[in-house]
Amino acid sequence: MAANAWMNTPRGFTLDASGNPVNVDVRRAVFTPMLGPEYWHFVVGVILTAGYVVAGVYAVGLLWGRRDRYHRLGFTVPFSVAAILTPVQFILGDSIARSVFHKQPVKFAATEIVWKTGTHMPEYMFGRLRSDGSISGGIKIPQLDSILAGFSVNTKVTGLSSVPASDRPTATQATIAHWAFDIMVTIGSLLVLLALWYGWCWLRHRGLPRSPWFFRCAAVAGAACLLTVECGWITTEVGRQPWIVYQNMRVSEAVTDTRASSLWAMLGIVVVVYVLVLGAFLAVLLKMSSRWRLADEDALAGAAAEDLEDDTPYGPRPLSTTGSGHRGGNNDGGSGRDTDRGGE
Ligand code: HEM
Repeated sequence: MAANAWMNTPRGFTLDASGNPVNVDVRRAVFTPMLGPEYWHFVVGVILTAGYVVAGVYAVGLLWGRRDRYHRLGFTVPFSVAAILTPVQFILGDSIARSVFHKQPVKFAATEIVWKTGTHMPEYMFGRLRSDGSISGGIKIPQLDSILAGFSVNTKVTGLSSVPASDRPTATQATIAHWAFDIMVTIGSLLVLLALWYGWCWLRHRGLPRSPWFFRCAAVAGAACLLTVECGWITTEVGRQPWIVYQNMRVSEAVTDTRASSLWAMLGIVVVVYVLVLGAFLAVLLKMSSRWRLADEDALAGAAAEDLEDDTPYGPRPLSTTGSGHRGGNNDGGSGRDTDRGGE
């Protein structure tokens, strides 16, 4: 994150006559103006994505009719964390957008497809920027861009045409950054509504929403979050074009020559490592899931023969289990289930 923030707002060095960095100040280079906003936006983004992805798996289980305590708990814990963080992320997103407005004005112009500098700027939701500066399609909301950027219709917003064409994103790049930004904000806003729906049901009747539509939305929230994270990075990177280090180094100066043999070796190693990590991750998940399902079915089958308390917030719970009988072959304690009453 420090490297990316430095690429957006570089400092902590000067370039000598031949373009080499001198007078390097590591502390200033690491702690650049965009580090704080980017760091918190990213960290909160990945935690809430993890929450929605995990909860989404259990949402599918609940939609398929599994109502056991394990599924309800598996849904409730990660979804609650994500739901609490969603409005936080919305506020952080709003504040990072304002940081971009102040510290990376040309990127801001790209993400909002602003062509000419001026006040009273309208906000475009989606739409396409043409190379002559005109905009086709999209929904135009008068004055809103100026208001969002500086809380006043008189806020001056820098336009793309304020810098030479060679120093700003092309119309197509600006449109890509703009769409990525708008998709991120749209999904972020929908997630806030989903979190409010959940919070409302907890406040009203201390339980999960009952509508299957809630669980359908929860099931897709994880995938939507992953898409949002990618959109965030597209906004950051495409919006900075043609610079890799803003106003210091162009992407064309930084790309590695594809004829360099080390490039393909490095790419090969990265691909192999990631495939292995993904394979190991899936293997562990599948093993855990089948083991827990067996333990779950075992416990419920045992409890059905005895008295079963089935009106807990997390579903049925056996009352008089004493351990070995209901835990079946799984007594490693890692299942997340505790069937002893004293352990609840
Ligand atoms: C809802 C309102 C949101 C707004 C206004 C917003 C705004 C922004 C802006 C302006 C950037 C570019 C920062 C830069 O280039 O320096 C960005 C980047 C990013 N956003 Fe969002 N965002 C929002 C929601 C979300 C959500 C819900 C997620 C993830 C679940 C997310 C994930 C990211 C990521 C991963 C980046 C790239 C890394 C970074 O700059 O921190 N954003 N966002």
